[in-house]
Amino acid sequence: QGDHDLVVVANRLPVDRVVGEDGETTWRRSPGGLVTALEPIIQQYDGAWVGWDGGSDGPEEPLEQGGMHLFPVALSPQEIEEFYEGFSNGTLWPLYHDVVAKPGFHREWWDSYVTVNRRFAERAAAEAADKALVWVQDYQLQLVPAMLRELRPDLRIGFFLHIPFPPSELFVQLPWRSQILEGLLGADLVGFQRRGGAQNFVRLVRQRLGHKTHKDLIYLEDGRTVAAECFPISIDVAELEKLSVSDPVAERAQQIRSQLGEPRKLLLGVDRLDYTKGIYDRLRAFGELLEEGALSVEDAVFVQVATPSRERVDEYRRLRDEIDRLVGRINGDLGRIGRPAISYLHSSYPRDEMAALYRAADIMVVTPLRDGMNLVAKEYVACRHRDDGALVLSEFAGAADELKQAFMVNPYDINGMKAAILEAVDAPPKDLTKRMKAMRKTVRSHDVSDWAEEFIGMLKQARPDHRKRL
Ligand code: G6P
Repeated sequence: QGDHDLVVVANRLPVDRVVGEDGETTWRRSPGGLVTALEPIIQQYDGAWVGWDGGSDGPEEPLEQGGMHLFPVALSPQEIEEFYEGFSNGTLWPLYHDVVAKPGFHREWWDSYVTVNRRFAERAAAEAADKALVWVQDYQLQLVPAMLRELRPDLRIGFFLHIPFPPSELFVQLPWRSQILEGLLGADLVGFQRRGGAQNFVRLVRQRLGHKTHKDLIYLEDGRTVAAECFPISIDVAELEKLSVSDPVAERAQQIRSQLGEPRKLLLGVDRLDYTKGIYDRLRAFGELLEEGALSVEDAVFVQVATPSRERVDEYRRLRDEIDRLVGRINGDLGRIGRPAISYLHSSYPRDEMAALYRAADIMVVTPLRDGMNLVAKEYVACRHRDDGALVLSEFAGAADELKQAFMVNPYDINGMKAAILEAVDAPPKDLTKRMKAMRKTVRSHDVSDWAEEFIGMLKQARPDHRKRL
């Protein structure tokens, strides 16, 4: 038992350990929206964060970073391969994202998933104070709630899934489907991004495990009740607004536009380089618009930021090659000296550079094939303090539930995407203002601290020692 009243357990720590050639350790911000969302909460609650440091066999000594208490869990090279690249990102990730890529079902990967989940549960059990709140995050750690409950029945345990929870027809392909459901039921509260995810989960535990359910409540044999609710995640709106109106960011936004040759329309895509994000088809749509003369490189440029991700997983390597080839072809065929069609950046950038890009962009194109939420869409909206700019958004991103005034697209429909991009390019400023105003209001009315407060508030009401009769 430890002395932390709030413990977040996530696969990644908010920072990655980077060991340079000189043997010096430095820390780099971890990729992905999860970390961005949780950092402010941990700071606010003075909580502890249990997670992997991104390297192999790293030290497990606790450390302080950015005002946070971090507790590293070490992964061996084999665990990185089997638990992280394998079961988490080669099985669960594609399965939960509509089988956009084919999931691999390998028993060694599963065994490693169980072992590593147990290690995370033990570490959380060691750091949590008596009756503490423990908040377990995401698909990599779905067994932790039940394992932790066994070790520490006094805790209130919450789980939040940042990615979509799949429809039952897909979920039941998983050879270890019952174990995963049992793992999640160790929590008092299981949170999802969308209503449909919570409903899928409740239906599955009723049909597959035979538990009694009523609306979003699940009644277990031992008398415990588990709630399944939806909590759409958001961003730190105030932080981003402050950053985006700052002078250096405003200047940098100007500079970006002038370096790109003052295009009439700057289109922007920002994603981890992941096959769920729909980057390939989106760039194809833009390329075709240029080819057909609906747009020209004289007045439109597409900036695509693709943050390197999971680079040792085959699917990701293949995707990188495919996109490299496509961008090369489009730029080769259609670019002019000093006027590339696509400015492709395979890199990650600090927050201020991102804010400058959001400010510089006339049209943000967010077209994932499936996405839990997509915080990039919300970040763009938060940075448009003049209520201008357009958002083209996939109807298959969680964000589509809230950002209803976006130019909505089916990301599988290339002609539809082309039409939506053109509609956004040609839309009268008045129309854009109306849409952006409404979306900004939505984003501002529910930021990441509201998300966390709502979840934690509900978790606090859970009574793990309370045996409710049916
Ligand atoms: C998504 C997932 C996170 C994950 C992030 C980055 O946002 O929901 O759990 O951390 O991607 O991916 P990575 O594999 O680099 O942690």
